[in-house]
Amino acid sequence: MKILAIETSCDETAICLLEATEGADGVSFSILGNITHSQVPDHQPYGGVFPALAKREHIKNLPIVLEQVLREVRSEKTEDNQKIDYICVTSGPGLEPALWTGIVFAKELGEKWGVPVVPVNHMEGHILSVIVPELTSDFSLLTSSLQFPALALLISGGHTELVLVKDIGDYEIIGKTVDDAVGEAFDKVARILGLPYPGGPEVSRLANLFTGENKATFPRPMLHSKDFNFSFSGLKTAVLYYVRDLLGVNETLTEEQKASVAHEFQEAAAEVLSAKTKKAVEEFGAQTLIVAGGVSANARIKEKLLEECSEFIEPKNIHFPARELTGDNALMIALAGYFKIKKSPDVVYHDIKADGNLSL
Ligand code: KG4
Ligand code: ZN
Repeated sequence: MKILAIETSCDETAICLLEATEGADGVSFSILGNITHSQVPDHQPYGGVFPALAKREHIKNLPIVLEQVLREVRSEKTEDNQKIDYICVTSGPGLEPALWTGIVFAKELGEKWGVPVVPVNHMEGHILSVIVPELTSDFSLLTSSLQFPALALLISGGHTELVLVKDIGDYEIIGKTVDDAVGEAFDKVARILGLPYPGGPEVSRLANLFTGENKATFPRPMLHSKDFNFSFSGLKTAVLYYVRDLLGVNETLTEEQKASVAHEFQEAAAEVLSAKTKKAVEEFGAQTLIVAGGVSANARIKEKLLEECSEFIEPKNIHFPARELTGDNALMIALAGYFKIKKSPDVVYHDIKADGNLSL
């Protein structure tokens, strides 16, 4: 089965052509073409994603990226081998004007090629991104590595969620942020420190430079709350006030001061994320832990999650995506689409709509 997947929920225009082959040992996948065009340089002057610009850039780039993907494929395989069976497209959550560009493009291609279009939940894509061991062209589904119930910690610019994964396609959100997402907090702290967008990698780079004793102390919001929810808005405000006080004394922050703020902020974020995740792993008897989304690229957060959760779950059952798949990409949408199609092969999706707040 060949799936063309399209992802335009935020600031990446991504298309993937994935082939799934079912055999006696399960399913194996070949990535026939996979391109992610990042709009980060376009949004950088605005210090964040500007939805109208994202929409315009997706409309401009979708045909170009499709042509590049098909060219990649053509150079490897013969033309008549390329019948596409399904088109999968992210329908939410995300920025609605951006989501619509992918949906309209998918529908037009579906009509032109006479191929069904299947809507996919972006967060399910992030969960399934961990089953790709590395971004090589062929991989098998390591079903044995995903044992259920699994727990997924989804950490990105728009989401911070703990999801109980009873099976692929069967999800229950057991906790989430009550205000900002953790990636959003990283981006806001970066802005406070005068670092460019996207701030996560910048804050993390600075934090990792810090050594010694830290004078900055920030709160660990909701660390001891009885639920599985998170809060990052107060932490960001604590950073803002701390920096404001420092600036009352000095004109600008020294690199050392910036690094200490980044370090303490990252420690606070890593501590609450890992403590809540550990508690959920224990309470729900999770057999597998999945950590995905843009913030799962953060080395300190990974380290802290491994350290805390390995008390209840073997490290070999703790999965992070390959580096290239932590951020938004279309390969994860193709995978989520594959499982959705397998589960309900006869469903026809009429009238696919963008839903910015689509839940799992
Ligand atoms: O999943 P993603 O690419 O897009 C959304 O769906 O939101 O996540 C982007 C977020 C941004 O907030 C970015 O700053 C954050 O992930 N991020 C990081 C790191 N790399 C990306 N945050 C902390 N540490 C990182 N190394
Ligand atoms: Zn995402």
